[in-house]
Amino acid sequence: MARTAYVNGEYLPIEDAKISILDRAFLFGDGVYEVTAVLDRRLLDISGHLARLRRSLREMNINFPMSDEALVDIHLELGRRNGLEEGLIYLQITRGSADRDFPFPENIEPTMVLFTQDKKFGDSPVSRTGAKVVSTPDIRWQRRDIKSTALLAQVFAKQVASEAGCYEAWMTEDGFVTEGSSSSAFIITPERAIVARPINNQILAGITRQSVLKLAAEQELKVEDRRFTLEEAYQASEAFLTSASSLVMPIVQIDDQTIGDGKPGPLSLRLRELYLELAQTEEPRI
Ligand code: PDD
Repeated sequence: MARTAYVNGEYLPIEDAKISILDRAFLFGDGVYEVTAVLDRRLLDISGHLARLRRSLREMNINFPMSDEALVDIHLELGRRNGLEEGLIYLQITRGSADRDFPFPENIEPTMVLFTQDKKFGDSPVSRTGAKVVSTPDIRWQRRDIKSTALLAQVFAKQVASEAGCYEAWMTEDGFVTEGSSSSAFIITPERAIVARPINNQILAGITRQSVLKLAAEQELKVEDRRFTLEEAYQASEAFLTSASSLVMPIVQIDDQTIGDGKPGPLSLRLRELYLELAQTEEPRI
């Protein structure tokens, strides 16, 4: 099936889906994005993704009047046109295009693009063996709470992971883990407490994280909302990461340290299972 993308109101073959070279996301990274997982033709956590999108747009001062209902319809229609059963839907909204000048131009129309990517993550082999993670300094700016397309620091971090043969890079600052290059970071202490860094401008508020922490609370698991150091992570009983593109992924190694017994931990696997069960209840479907 030929791939179809969405650009500013039109569904087009992906090779014809184009935007201006003056688009501010191309020139300055002046745009925001969301990635939504699709499993069994269901959009996972779509209301959370749209709520965070609104927040990012607000923080960027981008006026975007389209309703959530219309945005969901576009996700569904694009999914249908691509025969998407399992994978990702990428949505980007930029400030728009205008002659190159740094301040926000007045009266420009935002650009909106969406495309889909097939991905089998419901039954991913790495989730059974567990992922390896490498640490790297967090060299990002002070507004990591905005899901902006200015991702060069994360590209560098992911390249470090790739060259180390790792699945993800955990970024660190002042000895503490901030988050993964494209995922939220968690450890589980020997006392069986799930530790997650408090949400503020130092990290992105993960939508999968939010759902997983809610599931953990429903199971009456202990959750500690605090920072953790890389040293503490090395000593953890378990570690895992969450994101729209990995769901819940157990971690078995951080740098050269084995986590737990080197196998995905029972609580991490349980949370993954619970999240997959929750996914089966998601509406609407493509
Ligand atoms: N990234 N932290 C960062 C820096 C991220 O880029 C992401 C997601 C997350 C997890 O957020 P969520 O659970 O809402 O996906 C945390 C997406 C998947 C990406 O850039 O591809």
